Amino acid sequence: MDTRLTILGTRPSYLNHLLYEMRDVTRQQDRMRFRMNLERTGEILAYEISRHLPYQPQPVTTPLGSLDIDLLDQQPVIISIMRAGLPLHQGFLRIFDQADNGFIAAYRHHTQGNEFIIKVEYMALPDITDRDLILVDPMIATGKSLVLSYQHLLDLGKPRRILIAGVIGSEEGVQYVLRNIPQAHIWVAALDHELTARSYIVPGLGDAGDLAFGPK
Ligand code: URA
Repeated sequence: MDTRLTILGTRPSYLNHLLYEMRDVTRQQDRMRFRMNLERTGEILAYEISRHLPYQPQPVTTPLGSLDIDLLDQQPVIISIMRAGLPLHQGFLRIFDQADNGFIAAYRHHTQGNEFIIKVEYMALPDITDRDLILVDPMIATGKSLVLSYQHLLDLGKPRRILIAGVIGSEEGVQYVLRNIPQAHIWVAALDHELTARSYIVPGLGDAGDLAFGPK
């Protein structure tokens, strides 16, 4: 397994309960709970990623004395792919509460049959030059929207680090991302093995955007 890929769910933890509820065909119908579980997963992913960022000691004075505490040497930039990325993004912000933020609208435009191209239509982005960039995409199915989004981002600057977070990845999708973004590290809660002919992850959880916000 590539050392640039971390699958959090391989070591059992409470994260499995969140994955269970998001995957379960009945429980996932509760939209509020589904969004909340995406947010909670975002918090866990953000905390794990925070362990891989650089820190610098900073003095702090308490009522009884002083000490140094290691704090992030810079705030990350969190950029999410809409629409399903929105609740996950919210979870990231509960950990990285002073981060800069960006949003990209990337979607599948179906051409014929199961064929599609990814279209990027909207970007609201801060400067990413020399920043620690966290790209958030809940379902890394083919990896193509992530790679295309990253290519658009590179026109605006070169980040210092590129960290990618997803809830469920497919083997094919994460390999595609690792091949096309050689400096990327990826964190997913789970890695599934297959894609359907329409490039949905199997067993996956279905359409994360529809489950969070309703059918489009
Ligand atoms: N997007 C989703 O929401 N689910 C998938 O399985 C693939 C892409």
